[in-house]
Amino acid sequence: MKITKHRLSGIILSISCAAIPAASVAADAPAKSAVSVVSSKQVERGRYLVMITGCNDCHTPNFLVNGGKTPERERLIGGTLGWRGPWGTTYPTNLRLYFQNLSEQMWVQVAKEIQRRPPMPYFSLNAMSEADVRAIYKYIRYLGPAGVSAPSFIPPDKEPPKPYVQFPTQ
Ligand code: HEC
Repeated sequence: MKITKHRLSGIILSISCAAIPAASVAADAPAKSAVSVVSSKQVERGRYLVMITGCNDCHTPNFLVNGGKTPERERLIGGTLGWRGPWGTTYPTNLRLYFQNLSEQMWVQVAKEIQRRPPMPYFSLNAMSEADVRAIYKYIRYLGPAGVSAPSFIPPDKEPPKPYVQFPTQ
């Protein structure tokens, strides 16, 4: 009988442990439990990575020309500045909205395999460690949704509206 009771509490313990990762993905709540402390460290790491890997350079309007002074709450909302080259004209996606519709697990997969048109440096994402990829997810989810969707891709034979950056056509 004693053993049964002991085993029962062991089972309950393992069930509650198993529930923690799912809860942390669903809630993204402010730091309260040990799990949230881990996640706030990930947010910090994500903030750092996004800053040094240059995601803001394209995904935050004017970031490159204002010396990175855009307030954090306005960052990563995508852009209306087109990037035109032989591939057509691309617009940096609004990452604040993009991440709302993606689970962390899906993002891990996407980051590993993603390929996009220039000038998106998808190969940098492909080369990132899973821990760093997860930290970026936590950070952008922490920022929350903002802004509107970026304009759609324009094929090479169509003239995009101004402003756009023109790459050499070769
Ligand atoms: C030099 C400019 C540039 C930089 C730097 C950049 N991106 Fe992008 N990104 C783009 C453009 C432009 C697109 C749209 C590409 C297309 O339409 O094919 C894009 C697309 C994406 C997408 C695909 C979204 C979708 O709708 O499928 C993701 C995810 C993404 N970027 C994440 C990042 C992250 C994370 C970083 C930093 C590590 C980053 N980007 C850095 C320009 C950039």
